[in-house]
Amino acid sequence: MKCVKVPLKQLNDTRIKLMENGMMSMDFRIKTDNEFGYIPINEDVEGHEIVDVELEPMKKVAHSFSELLENDLTPEEIEELKTSFDTIGDVIILEIPDNLYDKRQIIGEAAYKFTKRKAVYMKKSAIKGTIRIRDLEFLAGTDDSITIHKEHGARLKLDVRQVYFSPRLATERKRVMESVSDGEKILDMFCGIGPFPIVIARNKNVEITAVDINETAIKYLKENIHLNKLKGSIKPCCGDVREVAKSFNCKFDRIIMNLPGLAYTFLDVAVDLIEDGGTINYYEFSNSYEQGIKRLENACENVGKKVEIINCRKVKSISPDEWHVAIDGKVSEN
Ligand SMILES: C[S@@+](CC[C@H](N)C(=O)[O-])C[C@H]1O[C@@H](n2cnc3c(N)ncnc32)[C@H](O)[C@@H]1O
Repeated sequence: MKCVKVPLKQLNDTRIKLMENGMMSMDFRIKTDNEFGYIPINEDVEGHEIVDVELEPMKKVAHSFSELLENDLTPEEIEELKTSFDTIGDVIILEIPDNLYDKRQIIGEAAYKFTKRKAVYMKKSAIKGTIRIRDLEFLAGTDDSITIHKEHGARLKLDVRQVYFSPRLATERKRVMESVSDGEKILDMFCGIGPFPIVIARNKNVEITAVDINETAIKYLKENIHLNKLKGSIKPCCGDVREVAKSFNCKFDRIIMNLPGLAYTFLDVAVDLIEDGGTINYYEFSNSYEQGIKRLENACENVGKKVEIINCRKVKSISPDEWHVAIDGKVSEN
């Protein structure tokens, strides 16, 4: 590397002058011996002795995800990736477009360095099957998919490979929690690891029955009950809610139905179990609210009940023309 050789006493002044004139190379470290300093330069400098010396390259401190990837990806590709991050506890889950699949390792390493989390995985499939999980490919860090996610003060332990969990529903859970009153009897028909029950029972003195068909989800729900200080109580039940519900000998003031692809097929169970004047928090994938409202109305009509729609909202976007929508209905006897 081409360097200006200066006596140690002049090193600092020369360094500053060269830097001010844009002549110093910032890619290498200045080297010194007992008498001289060697300052890397970009161009010849008059009035100094120029020598060729081997210098150590500067270790760049990466300030951002973009900076880590700027040599491998276009700015547009980097922007697209930035919106695909899901952080679940100390695990990062990335959605990598097909055209960048060959660069997944570089992207994974960049995400690992940038976030300083334990593990980075990429989505390898859509969410699928009865228990609503997806295939993940490990990219960087330590391949350990068990983590504890913090949400609204709740601690939620889970294995991202074995159970459903979306941090993108945090606002919705808070909203439902805030609409709950102390004393309610609640049924979460599709509770997963229990984010709705835990967030609600931490804040409200309620009695929650939480059902899921995935044994592993119920195992984590049980752990989560112990990990959190609850004002209310939660009773975990493992099984198909249609079967489990047959053993219930009470009605519920609120029923949460967050299985958006199939919740409509369980509306008959919910309408049967809801207390007069109780609320159903119903979810589905749709491009409008009309379909969900009609489904709730039909399910009620079928058993001589009626529903008053209290609130409808978009929870999150699924595709350009499809949303995960929430519809809250108050059900009463006709
Ligand atoms: C979309 S996830 C929602 C989990 C949780 N409510 C949350 O917000 O994280 C749906 C859950 O329903 C469960 N599930 C699917 N079919 C079921 C059934 N027939 N009875 C009970 N649980 C079921 C799945 O195992 C999955 O955990």
